Amino acid sequence: MTARELFELVREDLLRVEEQIFAENRSAIEPVAEIITYLLGGGGKRLRPALVLLSAGFCGARGPSAIRLGAVVELIHTATLIHDDVIDGADLRRGRPSANHRWGNHISVLAGDWLYMQAFRIALAERNFRILDILIELTQNMVEGELLQWAKLGRMDLTEAEALDLNERKTACLFSGCTRLGAVLGHADPAVEQALADYGRYAGMAFQLVDDLLDFTAQPEQLGKPVLSDLKEGKVTLPLIYAMQDGVPHAQPLVAAVLAEKGFQSVRPEQIAALVRESGALDRTRQLAEDYAARAKNCIAGWAGSEYGRALLAVPDFILERES
Ligand code: IPE
Ligand code: IPE
Ligand code: MG
Ligand code: MG
Repeated sequence: MTARELFELVREDLLRVEEQIFAENRSAIEPVAEIITYLLGGGGKRLRPALVLLSAGFCGARGPSAIRLGAVVELIHTATLIHDDVIDGADLRRGRPSANHRWGNHISVLAGDWLYMQAFRIALAERNFRILDILIELTQNMVEGELLQWAKLGRMDLTEAEALDLNERKTACLFSGCTRLGAVLGHADPAVEQALADYGRYAGMAFQLVDDLLDFTAQPEQLGKPVLSDLKEGKVTLPLIYAMQDGVPHAQPLVAAVLAEKGFQSVRPEQIAALVRESGALDRTRQLAEDYAARAKNCIAGWAGSEYGRALLAVPDFILERES
């Protein structure tokens, strides 16, 4: 199944997720309503709602609850993006000026808070403590990921394990929560629920590694957010860790200079891009992303019998191929 076909399978339901998202936000006061409409109207792949819908569909749970939870995870995701851009000082998101760039940090933080609560308000309508448990755990994990990342900012001695732990908290736990929610809605067997949750976690690990790669390789117009910005923001991601590990002699001083200057003054961005490319670090990171994608598929191997199973099997390939 191709990426287009897999989104086609949940197209109708994704349209309902959009309706749900915008219907609920009418109650927000200004400028929160404006910010939310702006950000949610600015595009975005809607991959997390698609994961809820596919997982629920696989477990035989198509219907209003899956639509609502699709909206819930997109609202949580959007809230984390608003807060993340404040923390990172990023000026571009979904191809437009970021909320903090347009409205400033203070209002953006409050808009993010409002969105989190809106997500939980919709989730509460399910009257299901399992669902709340999953959502609270993943949200706290994401906040802890941002906190840990903040604490490790500017550190050149970050290990591979530390970088992967950050990726797991920042991104993979939400993916895992999405697929687990679908299983919970479908009252799946514990083994199936665990398989779907593991699948989501591995797919999320692949997704964040691709994000780390795209920061070095993409064009900002295509990506819709800044490129070559992780290092400038003090984030030493896996491609850089590998470049420094692989003993490229000039890697350490180049990275150290960008971190110290918090920008590209004495080092040009192209030098860093060339460094990760020529050291083989991009290939090594890509290989790891492919390994995670394969692990994700392994969790649900043998599920190609249903169209939802086939779509779930196609998601990791979509993640590896994505350019935005
Ligand atoms: C961006 O996620 C944040 C990361 C986890 C890297 P997406 O790339 O899914 O963002 P949108 O929703 O499509 O804008
Ligand atoms: C991604 O962190 C995870 C989030 C929870 C937003 P990043 O800082 O790498 O995300 P982008 O690159 O700004 O989307
Ligand atoms: Mg960021
Ligand atoms: Mg990033």
